[in-house]
Amino acid sequence: MAAASEAPSVYFNPWDAGYRDNPYPHYEPLYGRPPHLMSLFIPMALVARYADAVAVLRDPERFSSVPPMSPFLEMRLAVFGRAPRVVFSDPPVHTRLRRLVSKAFTTWRIKDLEPRIREFTATLLERAARKGEFEVMADLANPLPVLVIAEMLGVSPDDYKRFKQWSDDVIESDMVPPGAELPEHVTSSFKALRAYFIEEIERRRRNPGDDLVSALVAARDEADALSEEELIAFVVLLLLAGNETTTNLIGNGMLALGRNPDEIAKLRGDLSLMPRAIEEMLRYDCPVQSTARYPKVDVEIGGVEIKANVPTFVIVAAANRDPAQFPAAHQFDVTRTPNDHLAFGNGIHYCLGAPLARMEGAIAIRAALERFPRLRLAEPAAPLTYKGSYFLRGLSSLRMAVE
Ligand code: HEM
Repeated sequence: MAAASEAPSVYFNPWDAGYRDNPYPHYEPLYGRPPHLMSLFIPMALVARYADAVAVLRDPERFSSVPPMSPFLEMRLAVFGRAPRVVFSDPPVHTRLRRLVSKAFTTWRIKDLEPRIREFTATLLERAARKGEFEVMADLANPLPVLVIAEMLGVSPDDYKRFKQWSDDVIESDMVPPGAELPEHVTSSFKALRAYFIEEIERRRRNPGDDLVSALVAARDEADALSEEELIAFVVLLLLAGNETTTNLIGNGMLALGRNPDEIAKLRGDLSLMPRAIEEMLRYDCPVQSTARYPKVDVEIGGVEIKANVPTFVIVAAANRDPAQFPAAHQFDVTRTPNDHLAFGNGIHYCLGAPLARMEGAIAIRAALERFPRLRLAEPAAPLTYKGSYFLRGLSSLRMAVE
């Protein structure tokens, strides 16, 4: 068995802003080899090849999704509660939670949101059109997903502003680096959000509606149901998992289109290509760059041994550009097919919100193309600024010209 493949040419550092701005060239040396072992504060393994990424994601028996306890995790649990979260759990806990939440998070519930998503999008784009300029993130990509989740959870329009603030603050917690304290406004916003939902859950128990919270309260599997803490944990997970990701699908997708005017032209010429274009946006510049697993035992992949508990980063964004899986992998091609990308993961944790994200992304991007027939990057040569997280890759702003 090979020992650590300590190749000096590999650079991986999520805390380096330069790395975060463009990690793709750094994935290149990883394709030719099995998992790469390295040390960055702690030992870790990088999995970048498509076949290896699929193998890890499809092996929950040996690769756990539960992070080992650490002072950093302990601090987060003390704030956010200790109820298991579906994404950070293994079978049988995962099987139970996924079964219960899937009873409420159904295809028809998502389909029912379609007209509201169209309305929200039209209002946001109209506002941008009146200004005469389109800042994709502030005008569309940031507000749309939180409006949609609030609608889904049945948050009253009167409470929307407070909800948005709490939600932004809780999302910010994901950007706090290990070792740093959670800022006070994050902690207090989480407390307020929690108190809000405890009250809402009580209200929906007495007077159920047709919103997701009522459906989650009602979700049962024979005698089993979600506890109040599990319900709150799931609502918070939806905010974290569903908002920033969809925001970044819209932002990264618009950037890819802006940088490839021929692809915009193709799409405008045949809007039935939109579903394929969305898959390509997800593949080409993945909103979630990497997920993590923790081997339960010493494991061997492609001749490399990863020791038990060593954090193993499955870099789905790298796998999505693996030349062994995708011909012309660095080319953005809205007609690409097949396109079995890993942007939504693979295996038992496959993204529960994928149908919602796909629908929201398609509605938003199609509406932007239709509302602005001359849409293009405002400053194609200007440097771009990214938000502070490597794992959730997204732009701070993206100016597009519309006249
Ligand atoms: C473009 C947008 C999105 C992307 C790229 C994305 C990506 C992912 C990925 C990669 C995973 C798997 C994580 C792992 O295996 O460790 C995941 C899981 C999950 N996502 Fe998404 N997601 C998106 C949107 C959403 C939305 C809109 C929601 C809900 C409103 C959502 C809810 C979830 C949940 C609940 C899980 C956990 C599933 C489980 O553990 O069984 N996601 N997502």
